[in-house]
Amino acid sequence: MSRLAVLKGGRSLERQVSLRSGGRVEDALERLGHDVIGIDVGADVIERLRAASLDAAFVALHGQDGEDGTIQELLDVLGIPFTGSGVLACLRSWDKVLTKHLLAEAALPTPEFFAFSETAFEQLGAGETLPAIEKRLSFPLVVKPATGGSALGIKFARAAADVPAALVAAFSYADRVLLERHVRGRDLAVSILDGSDGPIALPIVEAVPRDEDFYDFEARYEIGRTSFVCPANLPPSVTARSHDVALRTHRLLGLEGFARVDLMLEEESEEPFVLEANATPGLTETSLVPQAAEAAGIGLDELIGRIVELALARGPVGASP
Ligand SMILES: Nc1ncnc2c1ncn2[C@@H]1O[C@H](COP(=O)(O)OP(=O)(O)O)[C@@H](O)[C@H]1O
Ligand SMILES: [Mg+2]
Repeated sequence: MSRLAVLKGGRSLERQVSLRSGGRVEDALERLGHDVIGIDVGADVIERLRAASLDAAFVALHGQDGEDGTIQELLDVLGIPFTGSGVLACLRSWDKVLTKHLLAEAALPTPEFFAFSETAFEQLGAGETLPAIEKRLSFPLVVKPATGGSALGIKFARAAADVPAALVAAFSYADRVLLERHVRGRDLAVSILDGSDGPIALPIVEAVPRDEDFYDFEARYEIGRTSFVCPANLPPSVTARSHDVALRTHRLLGLEGFARVDLMLEEESEEPFVLEANATPGLTETSLVPQAAEAAGIGLDELIGRIVELALARGPVGASP
């Protein structure tokens, strides 16, 4: 039995999802016989972590603070072991622009893109380059904030006239925005779980739009408009390639414990393109990592138990072995 804190909630835009993930993790840890305290992360988090004499903390936070390395840095300073990735891997995967530059440098497939800060538009006239970018990426193209999750602020622009409003929407979520080539194909998520023999890729989850209008992204993400299939029905060679690309992304970014790599499988080329990696993916009843684990015969309690064991085995950062 270990004494564990579950860090959840917080002030990010994904607070509600995190409260649900955290609640489920707490229940699982209690069933596993651990002594568990739930902490809704706020101004008193340091005080509460210090007072708790913890063996480890489970990071069930999504978005800002939880996924960008902030809470991980604080836990390092306090000498508390924690689940999932360390500070640097969080930084690399939180910022999609950085992730995509690293992927491109490592020759891993990611859709072509251009990224600008808000000040580049306001003070350097970056808007003048839009026609050239639009020509290069062609329509539809995807406009998304560099940071954040749950598809917040992402828009598909079908024509040049759609781009300015899409940029304004994306800049309301982050001060850096990317314009990305739209990949026509299937939406796949590869969950990765570390183990004694290194990371393994779990069965792939496909998000299938129930709606026929493929480009109507807003509608796709309405509740009930998307269904999930796991394992995704793919030719073995495509599954193997997608697993390989996701595992290489996991290693490249230095992710640890567990993570989820989001891919678009291009219909024409059958090539999986990496969109992003999530350092603290959702663990709610409808989330993809638990679905993937279940398909691999790993129930929720076993999944959560394994993630905690990895954190306890790693110990606090900076500790001698
Ligand atoms: N370049 C793209 N081409 C096609 N669809 C995309 C593209 N980028 C994002 N999407 C769609 O938007 C969803 C969310 O994008 P993603 O980059 O994973 O951001 P988030 O952090 O919000 O999950 C994807 O799962 C996919 O359905
Ligand atoms: Mg995603």
